[in-house]
Amino acid sequence: MAIIFINDKKYHVNASDNLLHACLSLGFDIPYFCWHPILGSIGSCRQCMVKQYDNCEDKVGRLVISCMTPVLNGSVISIHDSESVEFRKGIIELLMTNHPHDCPICEEGGSCHLQDMTVITGHNKRRYRFLKRTHKNQYLGPFVGHEMNRCISCYRCVRYYKDYADGTDFGVYGTSNNIYFGRLEEGALESEFSGNLVEVCPTGVFTDKIQSEKYSRKWDLQYAPSICQHCCVGCNISAGEKYGEICKVENRYHENINRYFLCDLGRFGYSYSNLEDRPKYSVFRNENKTKILKNLQNSFTLIEKLLLDSSQVIGIGSNRASLESNYALQKLVGKKNFSTGMLQKELDCTSLIISILKSGGIYVPTLKEIENYDVIFILGEDVTQTSPMIALSIRQAIKEKSKSISFSKNIPVWNSLAVKNASQGVKNRLFIINTYATKLDDISEKSCIFSINSQVQLGFKISHHIDKDSPGIDNSSDSNTKIVELISCALLSSKNPLIISGTHSNSVELIQSTYNIAKSLKNRKKNVGLIFLTSNSNSLGIGLLDGMSLEKVSEKILKNKCDFLIILENDIYRYFSKFYMSKLLKIVKNVLVIDHLNTDTMKIGKISLPSTNCFESSGTVVNYEGRAQRFFQVYDPKFYCNDIHTLDSWMWLHLIRCKLYKKSQTWYKLDDVIHSLSSEKFDFRNLKFVAPDASFRVFGQKLARSPHRSSGRTSVRANINVHERSQPKDQNSMFSFSMEGCQQFYKYSSYIPFSWTPGWNSIQSLNKFSRNIDGKLPFWNSGKHLFEHGTGKLIPWFNYCSVKNESNDSYCIFPYYALFGSEPLSKLSPKISENISIFSGIMNKNDAKILSIRSGSKIEFECFNTLFTVTIFVSSKIKSKHLGLLLGHYDLPISLSGKKIVDLRKITV
Ligand code: SF4
Ligand code: SF4
Ligand code: FES
Repeated sequence: MAIIFINDKKYHVNASDNLLHACLSLGFDIPYFCWHPILGSIGSCRQCMVKQYDNCEDKVGRLVISCMTPVLNGSVISIHDSESVEFRKGIIELLMTNHPHDCPICEEGGSCHLQDMTVITGHNKRRYRFLKRTHKNQYLGPFVGHEMNRCISCYRCVRYYKDYADGTDFGVYGTSNNIYFGRLEEGALESEFSGNLVEVCPTGVFTDKIQSEKYSRKWDLQYAPSICQHCCVGCNISAGEKYGEICKVENRYHENINRYFLCDLGRFGYSYSNLEDRPKYSVFRNENKTKILKNLQNSFTLIEKLLLDSSQVIGIGSNRASLESNYALQKLVGKKNFSTGMLQKELDCTSLIISILKSGGIYVPTLKEIENYDVIFILGEDVTQTSPMIALSIRQAIKEKSKSISFSKNIPVWNSLAVKNASQGVKNRLFIINTYATKLDDISEKSCIFSINSQVQLGFKISHHIDKDSPGIDNSSDSNTKIVELISCALLSSKNPLIISGTHSNSVELIQSTYNIAKSLKNRKKNVGLIFLTSNSNSLGIGLLDGMSLEKVSEKILKNKCDFLIILENDIYRYFSKFYMSKLLKIVKNVLVIDHLNTDTMKIGKISLPSTNCFESSGTVVNYEGRAQRFFQVYDPKFYCNDIHTLDSWMWLHLIRCKLYKKSQTWYKLDDVIHSLSSEKFDFRNLKFVAPDASFRVFGQKLARSPHRSSGRTSVRANINVHERSQPKDQNSMFSFSMEGCQQFYKYSSYIPFSWTPGWNSIQSLNKFSRNIDGKLPFWNSGKHLFEHGTGKLIPWFNYCSVKNESNDSYCIFPYYALFGSEPLSKLSPKISENISIFSGIMNKNDAKILSIRSGSKIEFECFNTLFTVTIFVSSKIKSKHLGLLLGHYDLPISLSGKKIVDLRKITV
């Protein structure tokens, strides 16, 4: 700590910060542009000038760039000294000479850092009377708009895109007063993290094109703190709604997870929530007749009758549904009859991961902590496609070495250009083995393409090489010895090695070998971290609830041991072929489906019940660390349409249970479900500490969901009724609908619906939330680990079980993943679905040559009595006789994974 004097008062600040960081942390309003808590300082805009004095006697002082000036014990500075005030005013006036005065038509207006800084500096009169510099805008793809005339040349965008996210297709061009930030030529931005430009840019140069389609000013939206549902990372988001549609998702700060950024899937993948054909009513189908059940009571009576007529009820849960809804299903059908909705291989992988997390004795780092690991080894995961923000953290970990070098040269880590120059590009080490080339190969020291079996063998060999107690492989050939030595030595030479694998290869053995490597490193006294990635936002949650696999369910159906199937928020057609599904459906008498999407499964339900989605309900999901996090309802769909039938899935299931067992209702609000689950199951005992419950109040008030300037509230329902209806009451959370309630939520809770503090309307306001920027928020950090990891004893070694060698007579199908297309929710969003690759398969170029096919050719093969068609991408970076398929999409069921195909034909037109 250091003591500094600001405006004649004494303050204790962090000695490693710069003056700007320290002053903002103390709550002072110093305007800035180019500084960013993650990107550091480059001192290019000069907006953050303050006056520094030699000591308390010095009355002259000198202007210093606060973001480039380290905090020194005894520093004396003045923020409000007239010279620095005038200087800052002058800087913004200069910046504004070329900036168009187009706030009324700029989408950033009302949430613009440039607007806020202009007001803070007091610049309010335009003296410049000449022509402004103008630029041509570029098409940057379907998600990010470009309006270059608004640029103030702060360089944040290029520093983020190129230096932080390692993007290669965006840069800065031109000179002096004519600097241009964009691509060399028009085209879609290639980075999976391009959407962050919208938030990183302090002006309206980069805009969110998805939001533009349903544009509303920031203050006119209704928000709630939420959790991204598109992968197992669980990034914190803030979602905004108007007129019953989600129209914006932005980053919500969590110090240990996403901090200031999101991936494009999380930011742009939400429009599935706004689809016109969303189920809204209960539907009854009988012998090709479809009847809408207008009366809710009729639905319950019918369901009760059908259930009473059935003797064997099975419930299929979902790894994309909340913990509470899955639990309600388990309560209804009983533990024995509950399925996790996963295929056996994935379930086995998930269960193994859970037992390792619970008692494996190896630490699981957060996204922020990933950046502290110096050697990273990834087995069988294309992390950028399956858990993108982890890939972004890995990119920072590889660059982190430059910071330690600079530190040894007394260069503060926030001095980003000096750090870059001093370190001369030295990097930490990354090794990847996967079935095909991954998007992190550009920064890896060695990337190898291996079959899954070879990856398993390599894993066992590496762990044995590190620690001879670890089981090796008997009679193994000496192939890959050099790679084994290279990776083992790198891991052994590191201080903090990190091993990453997951369920995406569908291999229990791969997870076992990964654990062995981590254990062998721990035995060698390394500070090892271990991460397992899972397939969906709540895979660990449903895994902890425990249930049978989908294959077990189908087995029961085929043995006539199930005559009533309840399917919760899960599209079973993603897993099984249409042929197999129709065979099963012929046997089951009744299928009840609850979902918020009109999936193929929803369309075959004898009864389909419409549920709310994650923006219309509150609930809990568990991320890859075992961290339970709560998402909150953004709006009440019934406010806009009173007669729709949508209910939270847990409520549907609870009411059905009450009706069936003639019990009175006991769950009225989410806290009732949470209370029941946490008291019934030991693993969920901490669930009630994940977030404040619905009774949480600040001075007797709930927390407001809308900014206090929210306008037009009386007109949002004017098309229905001109009389203003009272706002709905939220039983399930501490938030009130609309703008009533506490607006200073950032002082009392880390569950922040939207970013705002007085005078700071843009997302930069979050730098004012906490006493330590980029540190903890003041209260209730979002989420809670369900179990401790990294403590306790290590579990026994896993032994290698030999697997059959691949045959050269057939093609082996394995899953390959794409950011857009692999995940079930986002692909229904129109803009995402338009951007899913046309290639549904990937094949080795030598195999393609034999079949005379090129990229874009179609092939076909038969499996499960079904003919599958695949559009092929030809690559040299995939093993021969391997066929990677975008499973779960393009009618390619996930159960194809691991199948051997002998007859694979080119389709000739
Ligand atoms: S485009 Fe935005 S972020 Fe980039 S330099 Fe201009 S103002 Fe700064
Ligand atoms: S990394 Fe995953 S959780 Fe985070 S924003 Fe992307 S899809 Fe969402
Ligand atoms: S913020 Fe300090 S120079 Fe730009």
